[in-house]
Amino acid sequence: MTRRPLLNTIILVPVVILALLASAASKAAPPCLPVGLQCEHLVNPIGLDAPAPRFTWRLVDVRKGAKQTAYHLLVGTDSLAVARGTGAGWQSGKLASDAQLVTYAGKSLQPFTRYFWRVEVWDKDGKPSTSAIAYFETGMLNSRNWQGAWISDRNDVDLKPAPYFRRTFKTTKAIKSARAYVAAGGLYELYLNGQKVGNHRLDPMYTRFDRRTLYVTYDVTSQLLAGSNAIGVLLGNGWYNHQSTAVWDFHKAPWRARPTFCLDLRITYADGSVELVSSGKGWKTSLSPIVFNSIYTAEHYDARMEQPGWNTASFSDSTWKDVIYRASPSPTIVAQAMHPIRNVEAIPARSITKINDTVFVYDLGRTIAGVSQFSVSGPAGTTFRLKHAERLYPNGRVDQSNIDAHFRPVGTSDPFQTDLFILGGKGVETFMPHFNYKGFQYVEVTTSRPMELTRDALTGYFMHSDVPVVGQVTSANLTLNKIWAATNSSYLSNLFGYPTDCPQREKNGWTGDAHIASETGLYSFDGITVYEKWLADHRDEQQPNGVLPSIIPTGGWGYEWGNGPDWTSTITIIPWNVYLFYGDTKILADNYDNMKRYVDHITELSPSGLTTWGLGDWVPVKSKTPVEFTSSVYYFTDVSIVAKVAALLGKPADAARYVALAAKIRNAFNARYLNRQSGGYGSGLQTELSAALHWGLVPDDRKSQVAATLARRVIADNNHIDVGLLGTKTILNALSDNGQSDLAYAVASQETFPSWGWWIRNGATTLYENWPIDATSDISMNHIMFGEIGAWYYKALGGLKPDPTQPGFKNVLLEPHFVTGLDHFEASHDGPYGTISSAWNRSGKAVHYRVTIPPNSTATLKLPGEPATHKLEAGTYQFDIR
Ligand code: BGC
Repeated sequence: MTRRPLLNTIILVPVVILALLASAASKAAPPCLPVGLQCEHLVNPIGLDAPAPRFTWRLVDVRKGAKQTAYHLLVGTDSLAVARGTGAGWQSGKLASDAQLVTYAGKSLQPFTRYFWRVEVWDKDGKPSTSAIAYFETGMLNSRNWQGAWISDRNDVDLKPAPYFRRTFKTTKAIKSARAYVAAGGLYELYLNGQKVGNHRLDPMYTRFDRRTLYVTYDVTSQLLAGSNAIGVLLGNGWYNHQSTAVWDFHKAPWRARPTFCLDLRITYADGSVELVSSGKGWKTSLSPIVFNSIYTAEHYDARMEQPGWNTASFSDSTWKDVIYRASPSPTIVAQAMHPIRNVEAIPARSITKINDTVFVYDLGRTIAGVSQFSVSGPAGTTFRLKHAERLYPNGRVDQSNIDAHFRPVGTSDPFQTDLFILGGKGVETFMPHFNYKGFQYVEVTTSRPMELTRDALTGYFMHSDVPVVGQVTSANLTLNKIWAATNSSYLSNLFGYPTDCPQREKNGWTGDAHIASETGLYSFDGITVYEKWLADHRDEQQPNGVLPSIIPTGGWGYEWGNGPDWTSTITIIPWNVYLFYGDTKILADNYDNMKRYVDHITELSPSGLTTWGLGDWVPVKSKTPVEFTSSVYYFTDVSIVAKVAALLGKPADAARYVALAAKIRNAFNARYLNRQSGGYGSGLQTELSAALHWGLVPDDRKSQVAATLARRVIADNNHIDVGLLGTKTILNALSDNGQSDLAYAVASQETFPSWGWWIRNGATTLYENWPIDATSDISMNHIMFGEIGAWYYKALGGLKPDPTQPGFKNVLLEPHFVTGLDHFEASHDGPYGTISSAWNRSGKAVHYRVTIPPNSTATLKLPGEPATHKLEAGTYQFDIR
């Protein structure tokens, strides 16, 4: 073993364990293997509409310096030909390239077709190895391929009960495969022969329905029967027919109508023939036991109205009505190619408290977004009211006053976050809302007659977009670990096919909250599919002049309030962050024109280079930075991103124009706010100083001076934050990126007011909307907006950052900070090339630092106190720093 001193105090020790692992693995498998094949960032997806799908893979290769020197990708409809490496429809040819993201460039894909693909790679020594076969399947590809008609019942928007639809059909031959394609205005559940199809929840995702409606594809081969079959559809309102009333006028959405759907069930028989069962006049409809459903408030279910077997072939639908044709909600019906919403985690009630003979309060022990499932038995007509809340009054009853503030009910028939369940009187009956979710920890159940309820009658389900976990953080500081967990819970509680602010009071796609939390999300979760979809929502909502609404999607609210650059910079910041994390330029290309239109509009409004358009540093601790300051910072940030994207997309004239504009804004900003003598900005608030540093407005020759001013400000604030939403993005980063990591950690690890730790000390399991736990307004208990701290752990303590010049962690910028007061920290992130990990332990005066760089990527390591950087190739390294 060689020991190579890097500096007097640093000893590099090659890792022995790794060498052992490598030799053990080499007996079983080739030293380099392409794995983790994905198409459109999904594993073996079906029902894709992308004309040029993207392929990605990773390498398993534990050798030091592992890399890919060439690849050859094959795509074709004949799996055997693809496996043999011959006869494929498209072959990239062997290309001397280290790319692990390749876009299809063969001839036009056919609809309803399964394509197989594989990739052969050549390793660092030029040795080839071949992946297993993966597949993707196309869907409609073109709206003209739909055969079904859009249908509904004859009721109007005000009718409350949700409709059922059904029809029967016969299969005549042996079935090879079957796919159901379902598009809906509203929400739907699909059933075949009595069984719900798939485990998705709340399909399809919320979009601006009159511009773009999503459809979902299911493989239903195993649910079809030989002979008689029945297909059933249950439609919910979702955001399409919003009946509840709240300040954002959801109920006035221009697209609002009675829910409708279009369906093609495509059966391919063993003999190759295809039969379609489609929505149309052959269908029948009836009202379901869901007597009320609102995505925003709750669901009411009357089991006495159940029609057992409604979705089976033997059911008699003679009393059911005929359906009617409806116009398609929008001209664009496209595939929902993303991770679905699911009931991801079951959470048994931790306790039940009996308040009196008819009132019981369940406690899940933690705050979530989702639903509760309730199972009981009793006489027909017994009614249960399940009122969901995040906190309790001192008397033990649930308190909704922190979350119902913006609800504007008309009458009493739609109580907030309160399900109604009426028993049918047929033994044990189970209820779980189909078309609603809530934010809650407690459920107060009120029964219509005295009875005993048990703890196990209620289970909570944490629902969210089921994005794979791609990051881990753990440390010796238990409060830090809990803040990280709470950040993840709030991030996921606010991910339902679009990012939201909170899962209870609003469920709004607040733009500002989402761009601030996007790095936190991307470090820990595989969010690209959700963000790509949400950026398409942005394109649908953008005015021709570039203006975006502050909440996206929207039924119309938000074009007039809250939509300055500090919020709607989502249009630049989110594509840029997705690019940094995935190295995928598609989201940049798709949104480039929209970004440009957005910044050009600000330029039109603000010829001086400064803008006052925006909300400013929302929910600050005590000091509020002027709006012109923060909005101009975001204007500068947007223009800088557009300049970089223009250069990347090969538009040098645009790039030059936006570089010049960015310089103009920066000069105007510094002329107005920078005090060159003192190294201060504005009136020297934490947000002012840190935003100028973090977003790159400080002239190079003033950086250390401004950082010192910031440090003095924070020390004067007793090492506590004094920021709002925009400042939470910058305060910790500006400190740790400018030589003040110990101070940043001191602020981040506070457990007294105001701090993240203060919430945790007071029992928080999610992040809050306000710093004082007893604030009287803006006090949702599950807001992601203050969640940047989750990303900061990775960036500053783990030191893992994407390199903008080699995005997707092709090169990792590694700069860990072994901060005072913390003896152990580790972070890992599964990037496009594999798992990057960074872990350190302090023992006495020494720090042992261990880092793994995945195959086909590199790192630039900067260790504390060392002026030089180290270039690392793939492998695991250990540094002993004394
Ligand atoms: C939301 C915030 C949002 C803000 C904008 C609030 O009601 O909950 O998270 O960003 O409004 O003003």
